[in-house]
Amino acid sequence: MMHVLGIETTCDETSAAVVRLEPDGTRAILSNRIRSQIEEHRPYGGVVPEIAARAHVEILDRMVRDAMAEAGLGFDALDGVAAAAGPGLIGGVLVGLTTAKAIALGIGKPLLAINHLEAHALTPRLTDDVQFPYLLLLVSGGHSQLVAVRDVGDYHRLGTTIDDAIGEAFDKVAKMLSLGFPGGPAVEVAARDGDPERFALPRPLFGKPEPDFSLSGLKTAVRLAAEAIQPLTEQDVADLCASFQAAVVDCVIDRTRVAIRAFRREIGQPSALVVAGGVGANRAIRHALQRSATEAGLRLVVPPPKLCTDNGAMIAWAGIERLRRGFSDALDAAARPRWPLDETRAKPGARA
Ligand code: KG4
Ligand code: ZN
Repeated sequence: MMHVLGIETTCDETSAAVVRLEPDGTRAILSNRIRSQIEEHRPYGGVVPEIAARAHVEILDRMVRDAMAEAGLGFDALDGVAAAAGPGLIGGVLVGLTTAKAIALGIGKPLLAINHLEAHALTPRLTDDVQFPYLLLLVSGGHSQLVAVRDVGDYHRLGTTIDDAIGEAFDKVAKMLSLGFPGGPAVEVAARDGDPERFALPRPLFGKPEPDFSLSGLKTAVRLAAEAIQPLTEQDVADLCASFQAAVVDCVIDRTRVAIRAFRREIGQPSALVVAGGVGANRAIRHALQRSATEAGLRLVVPPPKLCTDNGAMIAWAGIERLRRGFSDALDAAARPRWPLDETRAKPGARA
């Protein structure tokens, strides 16, 4: 039996969770407390790093205590303490990592300094016991990547975004159309009443042999289309959202298809296509991915929304995966604003 406490503070969610691995392989999320800071950031139309760090520090001790109480465990029952050590907003990362270090030191148990992206990547093994290797589409506000997950600690990035992340593009389009923050869900709702063919928007990188993403040209095209028809009616906004979302869907499907081919060529047969990150909540994207998975003869695994977006259970689970392979980290482990999953493919100055 193994119990790990997981702490997540890399962006605008504060979370503490306890996950258990039983000897027969059964996994149980004993608690997963999550507090979103969306209300604090909403007036600014985006996440403000200083506000985020302060909000984490104000609430994290209590969240850890509540997560332990809900799990019904004392600290001495823990086998390790895991925290996301990056990539993310450094002030927040420091809050979570320092808290984890203090607890680990106090109870004399190992610290696990977790890569937040690795935690997203391993979540389908917590929820669906997916076997290695598998293809991960990680699409959030900060990341858009296609990654071959070969083993714990063995990730091969097949493609990434060369400019904005997909969630970031949704957020920026929402902002320019005055739909509020966070933008993804608002754009999806507005798109339902819109005509996806009214605006002929570009599909950047469509058909290119490398499975990378590019969103900034598409975002600019939405802005130009909107400026050309000012003032915007509600129907105009719906049509712009629907046209934008349709372009994103086409790009995601095309890029994923290319990544599946690259995976089969370079690694072999993936056991599944796995989606993680907040954009995975988008129904149009999910339905399209289900069609392409079926076409490719692959199982599609999308963890439930609460485990797709940032949460402590995924950090605790990544801690368990590492701990049971004998990995742990020293108490001087660094907080890392940038930390690519696949360090061999990291480009100088590139986003993680
Ligand atoms: O994974 P996440 O909760 O946080 C990180 O970025 O790490 O993802 C948040 C992102 C935001 O950019 C948000 O607008 C986007 O996911 N998102 C969506 C939807 N729900 C959330 N994008 C498109 N459609 C949605 N339904
Ligand atoms: Zn995340």
